[in-house]
Amino acid sequence: MFEHWSNPKFGIGKLKDLRRREFVTGSLAAGAALAAGATAWRAWSQVTPTPTIPIECVPPVPFGQAGAFAAAAGPARVRKSVFELDANEISRLKAAYAALLQITKDNDPRGWYRQGAVHCWYCSGAADSLNGMEIHGGWWFLAWHRAYLYFHERILSSLIGDPTFALPYWDWDSCSDDTKDMTGRNRFPGEVYGFPNDQSPNPLFDTTRAVGPNDRIPPIYVGPKVMKAILGAKSFADFGGSGNEELPVFAQNQGDPQQAGQLEAGPHGLVHLWTTDPKSFSGLADMGMLAAAAFDPVFFAHHANIDRLWSVWAGMAGHADPSNDRWLSQQPFYFYDQAQTWTEIFINQVIDSEKSLSYRYQPPHWPSGAALAEAMPAHAPTEARVAQIAELSAPLAAMSSSGQSKALSGQPTTVQIALPQAARERVNALAAAANPSTTLVLRIDGVEIPADRGAVVQVFVNRPDVTAPAEGPEPGYVGSIVIVPSTSPRTLGLRPTITRNYSFPLSKEEAAALSGKDNLSVTLVPVTGAGKPGEVFSYRQVYLASR
Ligand code: C2O
Repeated sequence: MFEHWSNPKFGIGKLKDLRRREFVTGSLAAGAALAAGATAWRAWSQVTPTPTIPIECVPPVPFGQAGAFAAAAGPARVRKSVFELDANEISRLKAAYAALLQITKDNDPRGWYRQGAVHCWYCSGAADSLNGMEIHGGWWFLAWHRAYLYFHERILSSLIGDPTFALPYWDWDSCSDDTKDMTGRNRFPGEVYGFPNDQSPNPLFDTTRAVGPNDRIPPIYVGPKVMKAILGAKSFADFGGSGNEELPVFAQNQGDPQQAGQLEAGPHGLVHLWTTDPKSFSGLADMGMLAAAAFDPVFFAHHANIDRLWSVWAGMAGHADPSNDRWLSQQPFYFYDQAQTWTEIFINQVIDSEKSLSYRYQPPHWPSGAALAEAMPAHAPTEARVAQIAELSAPLAAMSSSGQSKALSGQPTTVQIALPQAARERVNALAAAANPSTTLVLRIDGVEIPADRGAVVQVFVNRPDVTAPAEGPEPGYVGSIVIVPSTSPRTLGLRPTITRNYSFPLSKEEAAALSGKDNLSVTLVPVTGAGKPGEVFSYRQVYLASR
């Protein structure tokens, strides 16, 4: 019970003291803004001096035991593409967020600030350095956000008294691989979220964004080719992340145990950074920093798309969510529901979202997105939907290393990995198999960066000739490491650095291209983001394994 509050660093009493202290000191700015009217504090940056971070994210302290989650009743809500909402649905969405903004009482967990702070609490915290478990960078990511969106949607729905209300999703993946194509949805949904005063004022607007109406997310991050590779990942570990079963929650995300999934590590992070800094992806509040991201209403449309893509992945033949108990039934998450009841929910209560959470996704009508989904065979009705996460093999080949971390300079860097005889045989066998049961995986472990910095690094296999970041699909590109800063320099107390492991499953073609070679080269191309990447971005090991 309340596992994430049992950290010896602070007990509940301490929390209460801190909240009292913050109330008299830190919250003064917020209080002043409140007095000026709710609309003045829509973007968190408007109530705190730079750098813009929430002052505290501690949820209203609940008394008594959390209520058990009960499956939602009623007909499924239908989540639609934000680009396909009709005028009524757009006004309904705005009315819901306007109602959220009107709740300004600090101890009402339903209001806009409290809703945004839920995310801050679960992702490395606020200016007072208090936070709960970290749900980014590993296998909690998809399920935790699914639950978060569920409660958020229910709260909005109840505020406007409309039981059919559903969050929209921003299908940035509905685009083509043509970098010149301006028709796709890899752009900001400005019609709905982008204009400050179209509903005097627009409650979906956030002043900290910098995207312009003509900015496009490069297809190398979200286009069909890269989405096909991500959705084609056979193992949940590669798609949605993995964790360490033995470690208690507080020891996770402190280093090696977790590995980020491709959906989180690539497109998810990129869209965050791009929303606030489309030119250099450096990441600024709100969307560009995890502690503040959910203060921007577009966060929820972005994450609805992530959630939809998880459903698409899970519905495909051969794919299964983890059946590991640690993931499925041993880790509680806590949220306040629409009746302000502190509620405990486990992952096995969210994986069948239509059945237990009562919503579904209407697929986008955009041609390319539809084609992608259609091309993928669906689960047979009898096929298992959950399975133990496939273990990673011992390294087949690794970069020679002293065990010390290596800094990545601001320039593309190529790492050479010799393939010993045994590794070559394994690669040849996998490349020759018609339907290989294991996948070759390129791992980059021990990536470390200060928690107030972001980074975007493209990863290429056997392309030492790449000297600049690519914009569109490029042979040998296997994915990107995208890190959204957790927090700001003021709050580097509890978790001063972000350390993550990354996994890039190689396609059959990529494996075939390796066969017969006695060397593998991995080229890391820093895009931008870390300021001076050479000083702040380091990695410990690059190796090839299988699972
Ligand atoms: Cu919890 Cu998109 O981050």
